[in-house]
Amino acid sequence: MKPVRKVIIPVAGHGTRVLPATKSIPKELLPLVDRPLIDYVVREAFDAGIEHVILVTGRGKGAIEDYFDHAFELETGLEAKNKSDILARVRKSIPKAGSISYTRQQAPLGLGHAVWCARDIIGDEPFAVSLPDVVIDGAPSALAQMVGEYEKTGGNIIAVEEVPIEDTNKYGVVAAKAERAGRSFEISAMVEKPDPAKAPSNLAITGRYILQPEIFGLLEKTARGAGGEIQLTDAMDALMAQQAFYAYEYEGVSHDCGSTLGWLTANAALALNNPELGAAYKEFLKSRL
Ligand code: UTP
Repeated sequence: MKPVRKVIIPVAGHGTRVLPATKSIPKELLPLVDRPLIDYVVREAFDAGIEHVILVTGRGKGAIEDYFDHAFELETGLEAKNKSDILARVRKSIPKAGSISYTRQQAPLGLGHAVWCARDIIGDEPFAVSLPDVVIDGAPSALAQMVGEYEKTGGNIIAVEEVPIEDTNKYGVVAAKAERAGRSFEISAMVEKPDPAKAPSNLAITGRYILQPEIFGLLEKTARGAGGEIQLTDAMDALMAQQAFYAYEYEGVSHDCGSTLGWLTANAALALNNPELGAAYKEFLKSRL
């Protein structure tokens, strides 16, 4: 079985749910406590043993590439002022040369199309997909847990998290193939935003996937679906007829930073856990509540 060595991180969307914050900066560079969103998901990938990160970018997203590169004047200035702790923080986010690639989607035609744009960089091997606006608080990280699971099951794996049953109409939800036992189970279907009364489960799909390369041929044939976009879910549905698909309920809590409320709660949750800021932030919150 080939290992999971690469991850696709799509960053070409317009971030309309958080406009106007994202009018002139990419959504993926919105700060989460002291680092941009994209930094969390890239670090999560490398920490999970991924060797190569592929960002699918688009117009106006060039600042993301700059973030992962050296900033010569800034670093020289910090060095001259002996600000070695800040310099170390800045440099920590710069990946090893050659371990990050960029390709452009040219037009945001949907998540499925964004993934397809990376097909040649992936080649014929399994790969992960991580959505950068879904930040998952977990140790080990959700992706590390999934890579560990993949080494046991192979196939395709979709990350899921329990949501209140009355909220199933906000998410894609999975249906288990048989009685479920444990965190990993084979699935027979994915249902987009089901009515709570008809939902096959309360396990929502949450922004991390491990997929086989056969998905690319199916994406190529996938017509525009919901919202006029080429949907990854539609191609995964087609692949499910040919290959095993597992849901994996990771240990951790996700935050949808692509919505203003999700971004705010993510900041609060991570700030409270931050060793340098947590205590003071908690005092501030207590004084306000
Ligand atoms: P989202 O739907 O959450 O992001 O897609 P969006 O399209 O930027 O946001 P809204 O819905 O307009 O508010 C999940 C991820 O997929 C990327 C987005 O950049 C985001 O990181 N994406 C989405 C693409 O790269 N291309 C697309 O065509 C669509």
